[in-house]
Amino acid sequence: MQQSTAEAGKAEWGQAGPQSQELLKRKERVVAPACTSLAPFMIAESRGTVVRDVDGNEYLDFTGGWGCLIVGHTHPRVVEAIRSQSEKYVHTDFSVIPYEPYVALAERLVRYAPGERPKRVAFFNSGAEAVENAVKIARFHTKRRAVVVFEGAFHGRTLLTMTMTHKASPYKAHFGPFAPDVYRVPFPNPYRNPMSFSRWEAHLKSLVDPEEVAAVVVEPIQGEGGFVVPTREFLPKLREFCTEHGIVLVADEVQTGVGRTGTFFASEQFGIEPDLICMGKSLASGLPLSGVLGAAEVVDSVPDSAIGGTYVGNPVACAAGLAVLDVLEGEKLLERARELGEKLEARFREFQQKFVLIGDVRGLGAMRALELVKDRETKEPASEETARIIEGALRRGVILAKAGLYGNVLRMLLPLVIADEELERGLNALREALEEVSSG
Ligand SMILES: Cc1ncc(COP(=O)(O)O)c(C=O)c1O
Repeated sequence: MQQSTAEAGKAEWGQAGPQSQELLKRKERVVAPACTSLAPFMIAESRGTVVRDVDGNEYLDFTGGWGCLIVGHTHPRVVEAIRSQSEKYVHTDFSVIPYEPYVALAERLVRYAPGERPKRVAFFNSGAEAVENAVKIARFHTKRRAVVVFEGAFHGRTLLTMTMTHKASPYKAHFGPFAPDVYRVPFPNPYRNPMSFSRWEAHLKSLVDPEEVAAVVVEPIQGEGGFVVPTREFLPKLREFCTEHGIVLVADEVQTGVGRTGTFFASEQFGIEPDLICMGKSLASGLPLSGVLGAAEVVDSVPDSAIGGTYVGNPVACAAGLAVLDVLEGEKLLERARELGEKLEARFREFQQKFVLIGDVRGLGAMRALELVKDRETKEPASEETARIIEGALRRGVILAKAGLYGNVLRMLLPLVIADEELERGLNALREALEEVSSG
């Protein structure tokens, strides 16, 4: 990738240059207006944490394509795996002719799974599909219908997963009617709602009889919901509760999985073995690949051809997935996630001392966030300020993402291959943006 000088780029950061403007005009004419983008420019090339736009400006990407780029943009090993596999065969449909990359990736993922029970894997295309299929598996296994989900949850945009997702706008408004038998309960949030497990359990029982529940679907750390880490006791107690009532516990690790939190699955750090784990995003470095990994006793209930799809577990995506695991292991990215977590935590605590806007600092491993509030007492969300900080960071050459039901959380989804110097540069840009907005 060619370097453009920082000074040449600076004048244009945060705006579309002439080439981007041309392309964006073409986009407006033919692309559905719902397909908006965070960046105001079009990309030309990317590598690691850096993206270069069509006008030659370079940005640090702290969003990693919404968390898909644990190993960074266009990692050479991933690119080589894609090239080499696509020269052999690109598609067969695993249900017509099976192939080794599917099996090899399943074998390697099973080794990362928490717990001792034998495991199975099935691959799909998107995170939503993984969640939807986990629910299908749980329903088939239990012969029950109800699904329990959480306030603040995000599980996707298909009919079932949209129903399971919390946020009305933009995900659900005018898209009803929704799927039946989905019950929403609070997520024990240490900052806003640190409810005890017994209160949580009483609330659930007021909504639905646990003996009718097929699955509880939980993000071990909420992603779109604002990187909310539940109270420490919650997930172990939830595990016990599900076992007691014969409920399939599904961990949606589409955002937390593949090493972002410092262990391959976040579930490990809470000491739980879910019955099913949903994977996606970084699994194949952004190629469409997702999966459900789960206890054989649950997954084996589902009969021949009851789950699947034309493209699921595509061989090129599986080859990319194998390369992702090679990089994760070879470059010790789990350790790097923990190290990045410590660095982010230290800087964020400094920011919190300095800027009253920062109500909460939280996360696990490299999955870290700042929650911004107008007032630390009332905790009123500072949504507009968050948008301005993102815009300010963009003007300083850093692409940042927000999250949270009220859009007031700044979340870090940076590639784990980021260099210390890039991290420093990105955090300095964030500090300057915080300063700018804090001083009005
Ligand atoms: C926890 C979680 N589950 C499911 C999804 C849906 O994934 P996809 O957009 O690939 O369908 C997402 C996407 O952000 C997610 O964060």
